[in-house]
Amino acid sequence: MRLLEPVHLAGRTARNRLIFGPHVTNLCRGRAFTPDLLAYYRRRARGGCGTVIAEEVPVHASDWPYEYAPVIDLAAEGWSRFAGAMHEEGALALGAIGHSGAQGSSAFSQRELFAPSPVPDVATREVPKEMETEDIEAVLDGFRTAATAAAAAGLDGVEINAGQHSLVRQFLSSLANFRGDGYGADKSRFAREALEHVRAGFPGGIVGLRLACDELAPWGGLSATTVPQVLRALAPLCDYLLVCAAGPYAGQYPRPDMQTPEGFARPLAELARKTVGGATAIAVQGSIVSVDMAEDILAAGAADLVDMTRAQIADPDLAVKAGAGRKHRIRPCVLCNQACQVRDARNRRVSCIGEPAAGHELREADPAATLVPAAGRQPIVVRGAGPAGLEAARVVALAGRRVRLIESDSACGGAVRTAAASPGRERLARLIEWLEAECRELGVSIELSAPTEGASADLVAIGGQPAAPRYAGEGGGVHPAERLLEEMRHGRVPDLPEGPLLVWDPVGGPVAVSLAVALVRRHPLILATPDAVAASMVAATGDLAAANARLMAAGIAIRRNVHLVATGSGWADLQSRVTGDIERLEVAAVIDAGFRQPRPVDQPGVRIAGDVVAPRTILEAILEGRRAGLALAVA
Ligand SMILES: Cc1cc2nc3c(=O)[nH]c(=O)nc-3n(C[C@H](O)[C@H](O)[C@H](O)COP(=O)(O)O)c2cc1C
Ligand code: SF4
Repeated sequence: MRLLEPVHLAGRTARNRLIFGPHVTNLCRGRAFTPDLLAYYRRRARGGCGTVIAEEVPVHASDWPYEYAPVIDLAAEGWSRFAGAMHEEGALALGAIGHSGAQGSSAFSQRELFAPSPVPDVATREVPKEMETEDIEAVLDGFRTAATAAAAAGLDGVEINAGQHSLVRQFLSSLANFRGDGYGADKSRFAREALEHVRAGFPGGIVGLRLACDELAPWGGLSATTVPQVLRALAPLCDYLLVCAAGPYAGQYPRPDMQTPEGFARPLAELARKTVGGATAIAVQGSIVSVDMAEDILAAGAADLVDMTRAQIADPDLAVKAGAGRKHRIRPCVLCNQACQVRDARNRRVSCIGEPAAGHELREADPAATLVPAAGRQPIVVRGAGPAGLEAARVVALAGRRVRLIESDSACGGAVRTAAASPGRERLARLIEWLEAECRELGVSIELSAPTEGASADLVAIGGQPAAPRYAGEGGGVHPAERLLEEMRHGRVPDLPEGPLLVWDPVGGPVAVSLAVALVRRHPLILATPDAVAASMVAATGDLAAANARLMAAGIAIRRNVHLVATGSGWADLQSRVTGDIERLEVAAVIDAGFRQPRPVDQPGVRIAGDVVAPRTILEAILEGRRAGLALAVA
């Protein structure tokens, strides 16, 4: 089996075995699909994906899990536009359907949550109502109605969610289903009936089941030990079974960040294959971001289809590039979860740090599609080969213009290269390596270790630098985290005095955590944060619990709700934000993992992009680099 060979499902043919999985995009409005959502899917289908599965549509009005969630009564019309767009681009179009049950929210629906038993979700702690017979019937009817609507909309089929946020999984799980009736005695019954209702509502359509095969709760629930029975019961009822590791106690799954190895759910696919044989097709997902890994899984016969969702958010042309022998030119997904994970307080729309046009297809120009070659004009000079400068150079070169990229460092990457030096975050460098390789492929002249001071450029993207400390100090003893990471990047052990260290983390991002975990191997270490929890900002990428677990496992002491107010030789003063009390710590050195500020620009009026405007994330750097590149290419 090869990734790009066709696969037959319920009498239909997908042009390849690649799936773009259903995910929350925050691109719906009024509980219906929007032109933005359709453009997002169309772009992935145009890039060659075989099967695109639209964002899950709750099958019943009792489920309104997040503000921008669609719902069946209002989304069915969007399905028909989605089906039309996918078919025009040559992809199969499936609709994900489900119900979040206890993992929903009453914040929007203003009514009680449904669940098999009144077990509060671990995230919201909201106690749901135990579903009565008529509630069960209403939701099952919803599954049938949704399937009928999918058929009428021209979809090729539907995928029922029994994965992460799903009522169907809750019925299957001994962690959530304590019913005394037939749905408790036979925990597969609700899932079976949902499948039967869907089949009845959409005869001849593809019926897929996304199944949590491991809830990652060692004390109970679905696991490699208990799931075979469920697999045997449900496999004959569906045309494909997508296996995933997912459950309420493993919030970051089924799409964990870069700390989890690629392809972590492959053993579950192997188990499913062994258990059900050829009873249904097996699909696998979970941090599969390289075509080689997908090919390897298929070649081993562990699965028939591969869901590579984030990989195609990052590069919508993944399939086209792989098919044209250009897989080395696929923009990598670095599994950062920084822009594609949308369910946080910002309520942002889906996007990608490396491909900021993702989710903004109707607003942001696609450089490859829009640029008119303009060879022969003056070469463009870009100063700074961090993400902003590299992206700008790439975009200008795509238009056929000559580009000189000058950089004072001996390597491309700027702050990203530095960030990638911290243990567990090395994968970030892949984006820089890709940008550099693309620039070289497009003929950009990259001049490293170049004398850039005072050099005249069309774009300055020289990044930021550590901000001046806001605490009193007697000089010495304070080391910017950035400098230590630079040392580590060059393979050197940071030169720090013997004794305990204080890592001061006013940012709450991933840098302080990974640096602390690296340094604690040689020094007793305290991490101090102004927040009530350490690493508070990594909550947005789903890594908060895991980051705190890493700090705990490494034996790092944490001081919360404090400000670093003064440092001196051998000491640091922390002031409690709650009581105002000052605690003096005996420390050999302070590591300042604080904010950065822009580097001064010595060319007045020049166009600037990235951290030199204001130090933020890779996403803003690449976005601004791209916009600058687009403007320069045609200037
Ligand atoms: C931002 C985001 C939101 C997701 N939301 C859902 C969801 O609501 N339901 C679901 O079944 N899967 C969801 N997924 C999982 C995807 O459908 C897909 O299976 C998964 O992302 C595949 O893993 P990969 O991104 O590592 O390729 C989500 C994925 C992402 C990236
Ligand atoms: S934001 Fe990060 S995890 Fe998400 S698709 Fe882009 S690179 Fe991958």
